[in-house]
Amino acid sequence: MAPNVHDERQPVLQARLSARRALLRERLARLYGTHPRFDAWFEALVQNTLAAAMRRPAALWRLDLAREQDPDWFRRGGVGYCAYADKFGGSLRGVAQRIPHLQALGVSYLHLLPFLRPGTPPNDGGFAVASFDDVDPALGTWSDLAGLTTQLREAGISLCSDMVLNHVSHDHAWARGALAGDERLAGFFHWLPTADDVARWERHLPQVFPDTAPGNFTRIEARGAWVRTTFYPYQWDLNWANPEVFTEIAMALLGLANQGVEAFRLDSTGYLWKREGTDGLNQPEVHDILQALRALADIAAPGVLMKAEAIMPTRDLPPYFGLGERPAPECHVAYHSSLMAAAWAGLAQESAQVPGAVLAGTPPLPAGAGWMTYVRCHDDIGWNVLRPELADAGLSGDAVLLQVSEFYAGRTPGSYARGASFQTSPTRPVHGTNGMLSALAGLECAATPAEAQAAVDRMLLLQSLSYFAGDLPLLYMGDEFAQANVADDEVARRLAAGNDGRELHRPGFDEAALRAAQDPATPGGRVLASLRRMATLRREQPALAARPLQRLDAGDGAVLALRRGDQAVALFNFSRTPRAIDLAALTGHAGGWHELLSGQAALPARTVLQPHGSLWLLKKETP
Ligand code: GLC
Repeated sequence: MAPNVHDERQPVLQARLSARRALLRERLARLYGTHPRFDAWFEALVQNTLAAAMRRPAALWRLDLAREQDPDWFRRGGVGYCAYADKFGGSLRGVAQRIPHLQALGVSYLHLLPFLRPGTPPNDGGFAVASFDDVDPALGTWSDLAGLTTQLREAGISLCSDMVLNHVSHDHAWARGALAGDERLAGFFHWLPTADDVARWERHLPQVFPDTAPGNFTRIEARGAWVRTTFYPYQWDLNWANPEVFTEIAMALLGLANQGVEAFRLDSTGYLWKREGTDGLNQPEVHDILQALRALADIAAPGVLMKAEAIMPTRDLPPYFGLGERPAPECHVAYHSSLMAAAWAGLAQESAQVPGAVLAGTPPLPAGAGWMTYVRCHDDIGWNVLRPELADAGLSGDAVLLQVSEFYAGRTPGSYARGASFQTSPTRPVHGTNGMLSALAGLECAATPAEAQAAVDRMLLLQSLSYFAGDLPLLYMGDEFAQANVADDEVARRLAAGNDGRELHRPGFDEAALRAAQDPATPGGRVLASLRRMATLRREQPALAARPLQRLDAGDGAVLALRRGDQAVALFNFSRTPRAIDLAALTGHAGGWHELLSGQAALPARTVLQPHGSLWLLKKETP
């Protein structure tokens, strides 16, 4: 390193460190303070962090400086996009070829599902990581990663990588070492000696994959013990009570950041801390871990965005933004999975009640924090996050969610959906639903142009809500042009190879369908054109990013009304019938409105919301 780089960075780093050192030490002391060599360990961690900052490429260092001055940089109207690298572009280099497609969608954030070296298949779509320091050889190399992040950055797109915090593959060197008798590495995992211990713990634990991976422990004969495996048996949970685990993961994260990864999806954050006699979710130590990781990132790579993947009820999410019992910066962004599930429930019920209740219970966020909204992702739609809102409304969670999940499995009279239930059984009928947006919205079973049109309207209703309500809305690959479910025989083949039902909505990017969607008269074309329009509006209208986001009373149970700041209002019709709305009464503004989605300049005070239609209204100043 040239001496001037050192001289230039040193004072900046010292200032960042001194602003965070006390907090960092306090949080880590809570976790590891009783370890005999805590002080030395802490100092080494700090020195390693500073060293990572010194290695930071100049372009990223400059990005950090700019973003430190602009904490809302990721809330500038951009859109997120989520894809598997292989399915989207074949390889990391192939992904770069897709940049024009992303730009046309207004994408500023690309989440590529796990692309690090995974364990041998099945590996949960890469969520069983075998090395944090290598790219999956099937996708490219470590330097391809830097190449891709550079190309994306030049196109105004931040690359998001998963950081799988809860577990590693049984093929990871740590697990292999533990299997071979290395006691230090065995300490990276959680072990129980007897089946009785397992039974005692299990009494309180939920099941993530009750159908395909029942139980939370796996018997490891080589060690004569049980290892904690919350997800699949080949995913060994990391022991975050071990400070070495913290150091390893923190340094892996900074290493990826130095390859140009600008955002981390912190996978399964809710599960990190284990405590006997509890459900093991959202333990206070989780937030000590996340706040310490955030502090390190804020020292060495402050341009990096931290996103919580905490698929929890809305009321459990504020602590992931650092708004819990011990407030401090934590994640910038979290998925709003309740709003996602609620929108689907609203569509099935033709009612705005559940989405309205979720939004009413969604707390406002401070500067530098935002909600990631979405309609679909690579996982199932998990229904159980909605139970608190349903209980508050005096509704039976079991009854409502069963009806909704049966609807999307195409099992209720009048259902237009072609999805599939996930991880359900006769005794556990509600869990999740799989399927691509278009299949769930009715395009697959549409027999007439009118039915196809209705399916498109439903897709756009959900996307419109996500784009309006979200600080960073996320598209899932293929949904932008109404791509269909994976074919049954292909799903069957993948299931036989040890994968699960989520494969139904993990197709390869359908080039032909994208080409066909260039015609806006086709269903896919209408979706694509509308999404491009919404993205343009988000980018061009700062009023659409204004806060707070509030719910208004639309006076109609099928209509959700939202206000952003004092200039923008949106309406969403969850029913199949047109709805008349008195805008003046709803908003208290008699001066008229521009409708942004249609471009209509002057909307009458009494207006009609089309079946499954939405309106984005911008206040027209009264002269
Ligand atoms: C997250 C991922 C999911 C994966 C799980 C275990 O929930 O989104 O796909 O199965 O973590 O890593």
